[in-house]
Amino acid sequence: NNRTFTMIKPDAFAKGNTGAIIQKITNSGFKIVALKLTKLSAEQAGDFYAIHKEKAFYDKLIEFMTSGPIIAAVLEKKNAVDDFRALIGSTNPEEAAEGTIRNLFATNVTFNAIHGSDSDENAAIESAFHFKDDEIIAY
Ligand code: GTP
Ligand code: MG
Repeated sequence: NNRTFTMIKPDAFAKGNTGAIIQKITNSGFKIVALKLTKLSAEQAGDFYAIHKEKAFYDKLIEFMTSGPIIAAVLEKKNAVDDFRALIGSTNPEEAAEGTIRNLFATNVTFNAIHGSDSDENAAIESAFHFKDDEIIAY
């Protein structure tokens, strides 16, 4: 329970908020153990959000997530998954607590700046989706 996976989404990257978001993450006690700039293909985004395939917002979500570069990272901290979900705030930024990353940097429920894994199991799956074992650095 000491690693999670995150993506700085295309909206936040395009707005130039990558540096501020990474600073907030590291200031909050998370250690970066893997990091890269990448861009999701439609197939990758579809796999990543397969659980939402039947939802009304699915097509919009895939279009958005493939619209530009993202930053993918693996983060280490005690209780990483839950603590990171608390740091990013609610899915809908209108409901996100003051000072959370989505409160500060998201535009709306679609363009919501950042992803955080919702379980230890998904953190491991999502990290492996983007990083080989030797691209995750223990230190
Ligand atoms: P992620 O970290 O991106 O997985 O967000 P989340 O875990 O807070 O939310 P969830 O996994 O339920 O949904 C994934 C993404 O789908 C969200 O981040 C939103 O971009 C989008 N989404 C979820 N619910 C809604 C909704 O009700 N309307 C719209 N338009 N988008 C939604
Ligand atoms: Mg989710």
